[in-house]
Amino acid sequence: MCGIVGYIGPRNAAPILLAGLYRLEYRGYDSAGMALVRRNRLSVCKRQGRVGALEAALPNSFAGSPGIAHTRWATHGEPSDANSHPHCDAEERVALVHNGIIENATSLRKKLEKEGVVFASETDSEVLAHLIARAEGDTLEARVRVALAQVTGTYGLAVLDARHPDELVVARNGSPVIIGIGDGEMFVASDAAALIRHTRQIVHLDDGELATVRADGFESSMLEGGRTDKTPLALSWTDESFDKGNHEHYMRKEIAEQGESVRRTLRGRLDRRFQTARLGGLEMAARELLDVRRIKILGCGSAYIAGCLGANMIEQLARIPAHAEQASEFRYRNPVIEKDCLYIAVSQSGETFDTLAAVQEIKRKGGAVLGVVNVVGSTIARECGRGIYLHAGPEVSVVSTKTFTCTAVAFALLAIHLGRIRDLSPAQGGRLIAALEALPDQIEQVDAQEAQVAELAKAFSSANDAYFIGRTWGYALAMEGALKLKEISYLHAEAYPASELKHGPLALIEPGTPTLIVLPDDELLAKNH
Ligand code: F6R
Repeated sequence: MCGIVGYIGPRNAAPILLAGLYRLEYRGYDSAGMALVRRNRLSVCKRQGRVGALEAALPNSFAGSPGIAHTRWATHGEPSDANSHPHCDAEERVALVHNGIIENATSLRKKLEKEGVVFASETDSEVLAHLIARAEGDTLEARVRVALAQVTGTYGLAVLDARHPDELVVARNGSPVIIGIGDGEMFVASDAAALIRHTRQIVHLDDGELATVRADGFESSMLEGGRTDKTPLALSWTDESFDKGNHEHYMRKEIAEQGESVRRTLRGRLDRRFQTARLGGLEMAARELLDVRRIKILGCGSAYIAGCLGANMIEQLARIPAHAEQASEFRYRNPVIEKDCLYIAVSQSGETFDTLAAVQEIKRKGGAVLGVVNVVGSTIARECGRGIYLHAGPEVSVVSTKTFTCTAVAFALLAIHLGRIRDLSPAQGGRLIAALEALPDQIEQVDAQEAQVAELAKAFSSANDAYFIGRTWGYALAMEGALKLKEISYLHAEAYPASELKHGPLALIEPGTPTLIVLPDDELLAKNH
């Protein structure tokens, strides 16, 4: 995924941008680049490959402010120096970095070529640089506005103009843009990780919004006009939470953090007096929750699977029919939105497009939707306006680990809360709360068995396929296991409900095929043996 960093202020932007790019490396990319303004001229440097290659290529004299930088994951045009961002107009007055896709880039490109514009790259983003440079307007913001009115597609955008070194302009439609507020300096980024070292006060742009950022502040407005008021949000994460520590990679670190993350998800939410869970963020009174007849949970990938687990817990403990569905399927099938159904959107990042689109569709049709989200102030969290924050800490690894566990715990809290409003007895509530209290230590005990797990992994390392089976919520865990194995080991893995195995897939299981059975000590234990 592409990443954006920007800086405006009295310091040299280059080292700040470089550090920001290193922080965004975890998102994956194939090239990196940077542009700065110095004495009303642009300096641009970009390289295919790692941020380290860009750093090595930066001349010693590469200094200035404001500056913008980018890590690119190729979509339009192969990874190359020329296709890397920033992109400039022919006279090198305007430079921009862009996340997203300009859908009408081909027709705009043809039109610009007819007008004599020569393109330096194959990207859709370069079109925007030319449009901005050629647009009419007194200010950079006015020209960005004119250019954006001509494009369809998604963008998170940061733009510089060498003739206006006292400002940079950012805009957002479908791809995150965050403004970081410093003391006499300002930062912009697509991800808080890139600016957390410098500021804890951030502002998220909304879709259709743009902002002119100066060293001493910013002004935001809607693309079609009209100033907007933004309230800064305090980031609770620290720069250290993005360090790998002694771990070889982020995924291992985040697996090890599960116990601590679950403690944070539970903190302040266990109510021993009434043997229930306290979830103030739901902003729904017991009376309102009593009217809920169905629950529909939406998410993608691991968030969807955690939703399957959640649906199971809610149905068992609160006796409310609950069901999870992939947000991507839901949003495209013109879903029926019911008044007495509570919709829940699950997302670690709070930025997953399909989940966001599902939330918007539900709201548009008048449905009630809650978010179960990790990133505070993220788009899905803001769009839902209420729900449960996971407080799992930043999940840097692209693969979901600790947030899957924390989402399951958040759903357990919700299920207890809903259950205690209905038929779950205080004694049952108390037992469940005690079990949740014991959970973080148990997770750490499992994590301590790493050596044994590594032995097992070695024993199965030559296998090409693996099967994961389980029943009810054990099946959801089996699905998550299969997804993790696919993503991490590039091995073919499938999950099946235990009883389904005999209806066909068993034919594929040969002597030696690893089959992992999720076997909880519950009322179905005997059935699974
Ligand atoms: C799997 C994984 C993905 C995400 C999915 C949704 O390990 O990480 O399947 O779960 O892309 O992401 P969020 O939760 O950020 O909406």
